[in-house]
Amino acid sequence: MTLTINRTYPIDITKAAVSHISSVNFDELQFGKVFTDHMFEADYLDGKWTNCAIKPLAKIELHPATSALHYGQAVFEGMKAFKTTDGRPMLFRPDANLARLNESCVRMAMPEIPEELFMDALHSLVRLDQDWIPDTEDGSLYIRPFVFATDDFVGIKPSDTFKFVIFCCPVARYYAKPVRVYMQQEFIRAFPGGTGGVKAAGNYGATMMPLMHARKMGFDQMLWIDGVTHNRLQEIGTMNVFVQIDDTVITIPTTEGTILKGITRDSCLQLLRDNGFKVEERDVTIEELIDAHRSGRLHDAFGTGTAATVAPIGVIGYKDQEYTLPPVEDRKVSNWLKKELWSLRKGLRPDTYGWMQEI
Ligand code: COI
Repeated sequence: MTLTINRTYPIDITKAAVSHISSVNFDELQFGKVFTDHMFEADYLDGKWTNCAIKPLAKIELHPATSALHYGQAVFEGMKAFKTTDGRPMLFRPDANLARLNESCVRMAMPEIPEELFMDALHSLVRLDQDWIPDTEDGSLYIRPFVFATDDFVGIKPSDTFKFVIFCCPVARYYAKPVRVYMQQEFIRAFPGGTGGVKAAGNYGATMMPLMHARKMGFDQMLWIDGVTHNRLQEIGTMNVFVQIDDTVITIPTTEGTILKGITRDSCLQLLRDNGFKVEERDVTIEELIDAHRSGRLHDAFGTGTAATVAPIGVIGYKDQEYTLPPVEDRKVSNWLKKELWSLRKGLRPDTYGWMQEI
């Protein structure tokens, strides 16, 4: 069936003939491997967004010279929908994701996504696939909006044409166990003036080789160190980083433009500040972290991110040493944040921040 919603960006909706939801075991979801029935797609042609369509999930056909594949004009977002305990599908802070997506587009010389287009596409797609929002403990619908350059032209210039796509995955936890992170000073994720502060696809590509080395050593992720002083913590790539030293919760400032402005990071900062925690946004050096660990003052360390939510760090590796953090059950801050966010997203506590948007 094809329906057209008559707005500034009319969306043609073609429903899948058959849903494959009954073939999915929602109790054993592997992150990012299961996809819902539908996707959204739009094209940027002649200076405007057009061809807006929701259709059955399918491969995208590309010309071999598609410029995103060669020169990396590609950005993405990660966001989530939840089902409240009384069954209402809700989006978490979609306005914040749109703002960040457009910041990424501007930095990468790509056209911004108008709010009406983004919200219509998002609400229509998630409404159609709402049965895919898991009701399980830790379950949510991960939503992946992305924009990429589509000019088929072999030459360096900003593309004139782009595609904006959204697809969704029902997911459970991203990290099943406390995360083992590794710090090193040779490979750098982001420099001031670069693209580390936005969600450019290339930021992630450049981390794969060092990550592969870290994995061989038994770590899950890198805890990136800055490339100017080679001494300050940056972020984890999939997550922003928080540490609790004594009774202060510290996270790294995003002002240098090298660290992604995490929406979960921002939500955690607001929750902590509004609930009487002592919070600081400031740099943390490798020495400070190791000294705090050695003197028993490093009580908690965790990452925050859309996919990961609040993920405790189990071990920090540096050179040939491993610094083991306190047992997860003893962590006051990360456990409290996890519970607060979950209660808010499931509608178990009032949404005093206006973060949840009903679909
Ligand atoms: C997210 O948390 O949404 C991210 O984009 C991280 C990704 C590597 C899963």
